[in-house]
Amino acid sequence: MRIIEAKDYEDMSRKAAAIIGAQVLLKPNCALGLATGSTPIGAYNQLIDWYKQGYLDFSRVSTYNLDEYRGLSHDNPQSYHYFMNEHLFSHINIDIEATHVPDGSNPNAEEACSSYDALVEAAGYVDLQLLGIGNNGHIGFNEPAAAFAAGTQCVDLTESTIEANSRLFDHIEDVPRQAYTMGVGTIMHARRVLLIASGPKKAQAIYDTVRGPVTPEVPASVLQLHADCTIVADSEALALLT
Ligand code: PGA
Repeated sequence: MRIIEAKDYEDMSRKAAAIIGAQVLLKPNCALGLATGSTPIGAYNQLIDWYKQGYLDFSRVSTYNLDEYRGLSHDNPQSYHYFMNEHLFSHINIDIEATHVPDGSNPNAEEACSSYDALVEAAGYVDLQLLGIGNNGHIGFNEPAAAFAAGTQCVDLTESTIEANSRLFDHIEDVPRQAYTMGVGTIMHARRVLLIASGPKKAQAIYDTVRGPVTPEVPASVLQLHADCTIVADSEALALLT
């Protein structure tokens, strides 16, 4: 694992965007694995800025998002479909048909998950997978569990995730209890992984990811086994490592 220390959230965002931007420059038709949550918003803003300044061209890029709440339609403002349009896709010259998010509006979990797996596999997996990390070490919505999941799965969100995500909903009861998420196996197929983290709430998860045993109880710890994984984190998130 390569660890890059950033001063703060802005610095982390710029460094992460530089890595994603370099991927797009090196391979204009690359497949990017993308993430939602608060952490990547700064990096997406920086990519949008660089696009507007003419430095980046997304016209041949395709994207595959990690996860989606089960039961939310694409136009629901709380859905990750909506988030991606709002925070990135509608601001850059990407072909919207080349952007993919698991279909939370499909109530048939088996079909929603297997069709997403087929899509990512047919693309030959992603060139660069961007990841946030949960306070509990989750990646995508792969929550701490007894075993690593290979492909896309329907998961029950843990209380800690429901609580962490409730800040984005009016009431905690409104947070969906289930989600479709790319499995850890699919994430490990990415040719490069970029995990970003900011703030003191992520410090324990980052410590466990880097220094702890590889265990499905800390899903991100599996990244110790990835051949090309970079963590860009600010000093607060790295506090327990230094
Ligand atoms: P956050 O979420 O970026 O909103 O902290 C990260 C995650 O849960 O993966």
